[in-house]
Amino acid sequence: GSLLPVFSQDEVTKHRSLEDGVWVTYKGGVYDITEFVAMHPGGNKILLAAGGALEPFWALYAVHDQEHVLEILSEYKVGEL
Ligand code: HEM
Repeated sequence: GSLLPVFSQDEVTKHRSLEDGVWVTYKGGVYDITEFVAMHPGGNKILLAAGGALEPFWALYAVHDQEHVLEILSEYKVGEL
């Protein structure tokens, strides 16, 4: 089982730049996607979600509704919300 740390929303919100790290949340998980930003097929748009939830953006960009996208995201998990 996973023993990842629990983070507050306040802690996640502190990570919204490449300098401070780029963290996002998705379905109760916390992800440090700093290293992925430069690899994102959708470019810097990904930074719009920095420090917050992916859900509203992925609702707009249905290209993320694919198993391989969730596999990428899972590699960056650092904790639970
Ligand atoms: C495309 C991953 C966040 C906007 C993609 C694709 C992947 C990906 C793998 C290519 C999908 C495919 O064509 O099969 C991710 C991950 C994210 C993330 C892992 C978060 C950790 C975002 C956010 C936005 C966004 C927050 C918008 C605010 C886009 C757009 C494309 C795209 C517009 C289409 C690019 C194109 O084909 O021209 N993303 N994405 N993404 N993403 Fe993201």
